[in-house]
Amino acid sequence: MTGIIAMNIHTAKPDSKPHESQVAGWTLQEVDVVGSTNFFAAKLSAWHAVRADTQTAGRGRFQRSWVSDAGGLWLSAVVPVDPDRQRWEALPLVAGLALIESLKKIGINSARLRWPNDIMVNERKLAGLLVDNFTPKLAVIGIGVNVTNHPDEHDETLKTTTTRLADLVPHPPSLAVLTATILVELRSAITSLANAGFGGLHPQINKLWGEKRRVSIDLDGVKRSGLFMGVDDCGRLLLQDEVLRTTALEPHQVRLLREI
Ligand code: BTN
Repeated sequence: MTGIIAMNIHTAKPDSKPHESQVAGWTLQEVDVVGSTNFFAAKLSAWHAVRADTQTAGRGRFQRSWVSDAGGLWLSAVVPVDPDRQRWEALPLVAGLALIESLKKIGINSARLRWPNDIMVNERKLAGLLVDNFTPKLAVIGIGVNVTNHPDEHDETLKTTTTRLADLVPHPPSLAVLTATILVELRSAITSLANAGFGGLHPQINKLWGEKRRVSIDLDGVKRSGLFMGVDDCGRLLLQDEVLRTTALEPHQVRLLREI
């Protein structure tokens, strides 16, 4: 126990007291309930992580809320960020790589990445990532994985769009095992990024998109569609048009990507 009592910025009530342990080179704090683990992690230092049993204000991309009921994995990990913008923009992809490698270790070989950071099994979402940058030199990588929780009981629209580890394997791992597996892979992927740059990881990442899919893209308000061809060694999204011309798009230009 650390004795730290954090305030939940959404409810202004104290979060539950964290339990602290050392896991795979990380200092892990575990709490029963928190607003968002990403906000909780905003005050932690590098190689610290926080896992909550439930989140009362779980956050998804585009300011969406993220159903975070008991039985799912709600984890945020703090990593040092290289000032190089390219490496910073690559973080969601690198975290996605770490998550897919972790899933393989627990027997899920069918997971794929949907740009930039959804983890899909067939056409259903198993997990999502949300990278925040609260301080200049640190990034918070938020990871949500549906395990034995029931997101569809909280939001009916999730019935046909999400999946859970419990739907995919007969015996899903405990949250402790899943957390440790992900933290090992995340540390290894972030260390590779620091040592070899994104160019060293991008061939591996490009194997994770699954079959080639047509996508529609919102480029700062301008719609484009084409075949998603993965990313180049600078982390730019590659889009092929009808005349087989490929354009490289900077990640921050792409507001939204939909598979069509
Ligand atoms: C998305 O797919 O839109 C991203 C979802 C990210 C959810 C995780 S759960 C742990 C962390 N805390 C949050 O509030 N969000 C992320």
